[in-house]
Amino acid sequence: MSGIEAARQVLRDNDRGGYSVPTDRLYPFQWNWDSAFVAMGFATFDPGRAWSEIEWLLRGQWEDGLVPQIVFHAPADTYFPGPEVWGIRREPPTSGITQPPVLATAARRVLAASPGPEGEARMAAVYPRLRDSHRWWAAARDPGGTGLVATLHPWETGMDNSPAWDAALDRVPTDTRTEIRRRDTSHVDPAFRPRAIDYQRFIHLVEVFRDAGWDPARMLAASPFRVADVGTNAILLRAEQDLLALADRFGSPAEAAEIAARIDRAAPALEKLWDAARGHYLSRDLVSGEAIPVRTSAGFLPLFAGQAGHAAALADTLRRWAEAARFRVPSTDPGHPLFEPLRYWRGPVWAVVNWMIAEGLRRCGEVALAEAVAADTRALIAAGGFSEYFDPRTGQGIGGATFSWTAAVALLLEPGAA
Ligand code: GLC
Repeated sequence: MSGIEAARQVLRDNDRGGYSVPTDRLYPFQWNWDSAFVAMGFATFDPGRAWSEIEWLLRGQWEDGLVPQIVFHAPADTYFPGPEVWGIRREPPTSGITQPPVLATAARRVLAASPGPEGEARMAAVYPRLRDSHRWWAAARDPGGTGLVATLHPWETGMDNSPAWDAALDRVPTDTRTEIRRRDTSHVDPAFRPRAIDYQRFIHLVEVFRDAGWDPARMLAASPFRVADVGTNAILLRAEQDLLALADRFGSPAEAAEIAARIDRAAPALEKLWDAARGHYLSRDLVSGEAIPVRTSAGFLPLFAGQAGHAAALADTLRRWAEAARFRVPSTDPGHPLFEPLRYWRGPVWAVVNWMIAEGLRRCGEVALAEAVAADTRALIAAGGFSEYFDPRTGQGIGGATFSWTAAVALLLEPGAA
């Protein structure tokens, strides 16, 4: 089977009748940002199925605009925490937090792959939902209009156990009322997963939000974990740009003006996360007000939003990291004492992050380096399969196998992909 055919087959195998699971068993529901990448992957060969991925995710959207991190379309007992821990009575059940908002970017790309009346009609139905979700980000997570949105749980960043969250997470108590019955460590070697104490804090936060009745203002006030994640903010800025392009065709002039105003606030605010001393974009701890002094792969993502001012410096950093670890882009600076090459977001390479970084480099004029990052990603997938993540030193595939978003990236990296 060719690489392309194998990647398509992974997407077909993980299809649960219109939506995809990230991988069988380990992640048996629909995840927010996974599905955005999956939609872009499907768009390269089956745009109708790509729209369906987005539409199914939006079945879980809340009235206030929140697009949840997980939509529990069908019961499964191979994942913790399931719907009963979240305690949210909706149909379909969902979790009550979110994930990096790649969706508008994905929808725009799916539209480009499906010109004609069907694509137009499906986009016309999806556009108001995307508009509402971006309004949710502004209202729920940046009520003061600073231009930076807050994330309230490491799971919202999509980079669950990044060392960037260690200090902020230390403030979160470890007691829980819920019995923690992890399932992930029976599918995957525990040494490659977050630690038990991380899970206690993850679940403590879920309980804080449950006690706040999932009300955005109360959650923001009550959360002991509050960060301006550079990854989420960069992805949101990029998504706002894509939403603006869509608003010109599917929205009203007033909506376009509203989005443009948010972009005008977000772009300079994102630049404030640039740390001249450390030569990197850093997340900020919104409880202490301090920059978080750990360089991670998320710090390259402002390029994905077209912030080109520091492109040359970021390109130098990428070249240096490649001397320390053969395959780009390690999720944590390989020179940092907390770098762990096998443990989840503390070192391994993740294909979706690579794809966004490569797109960003290209957009910001670093074309040769963009191609080098794409080539590393292709090499990792060719050798390690459609793994969840990869060891940046050896290229070994780790975590779950046959991952949807890794297959999607393989398709996106094919020369001439939509
Ligand atoms: C893990 C990852 C997250 C991803 C999810 C499903 O929680 O950290 O980014 O969305 O798995 O693949």
